[in-house]
Amino acid sequence: MSSNERIPSHVAIIMDGNGRWARKRMLNRVKGHERGTETVRAIVRASREIGIPFLTLYAFSTENWARPRTEVMALMSLLKRFLTRERAEMMENDIRLNAIGDIDRLPDDVRAALDETLRTTAGNKGLRLTLSLSYGSRAEIVSAVREIARKAAGGELDPASISEETVADHLYTREMPDPDLLIRTSGEMRISNFLLWQIAYSEIFVTDTLWPDFNREEYLDILRAYGLRERRFGKVSET
Ligand code: IPE
Ligand code: IPE
Ligand code: MG
Repeated sequence: MSSNERIPSHVAIIMDGNGRWARKRMLNRVKGHERGTETVRAIVRASREIGIPFLTLYAFSTENWARPRTEVMALMSLLKRFLTRERAEMMENDIRLNAIGDIDRLPDDVRAALDETLRTTAGNKGLRLTLSLSYGSRAEIVSAVREIARKAAGGELDPASISEETVADHLYTREMPDPDLLIRTSGEMRISNFLLWQIAYSEIFVTDTLWPDFNREEYLDILRAYGLRERRFGKVSET
């Protein structure tokens, strides 16, 4: 990418299509998730090289707990392996890990691996990589509302002073800018309960490519296309 192209500050990705990738090859869905992990590595690396400050990946939704137990367990074990194996690479590349979602629902061993990686990478200053784990946007908003109501009831907060900023400050994403760019793989035209508040003005790209087949080249193409889009934020065109 040339230096005069606009680079998004925050890219969010709904990584979808692992199951279909596997089914097309008569493989178990878990094989698709394994290959999907390779794509995660490639996209994290590319993001770091390009100098994107924030990358947020939808890895496991609140709703995904309702999948067959064997698939949930396989996903948890893959997650644990990823968190452990990537720790060194994150340190080498100055990547700081972050996690959003109902983290307490994760199995203890996954939670321990996550805590360790969060702690180890806490001082890094480069790419801020956020994994959405057991994440649901409506649940996030409900918990923000509950906290704001608690403060109001306790006299800590004047209800009349509640603003958009107040709400944003009580979301898991409080320390991040809103995503400039939202990518979804595998062609599905839906949001699936991801960052509902935060994507109010995100540019959206949906590609038919299944997540395990998504790669650096296609990612760069989308980033280039993003650079050419005009973001109006409700105003009239500048040209
Ligand atoms: C995305 O791939 C990974 C997770 C949601 C955990 P899917 O597993 O949803 O793949 P498809 O949509 O069934 O192809
Ligand atoms: C969205 O994918 C969640 C993640 C990518 C983790 P799903 O495959 O769960 O979404 P739906 O069920 O097609 O909406
Ligand atoms: Mg899916």
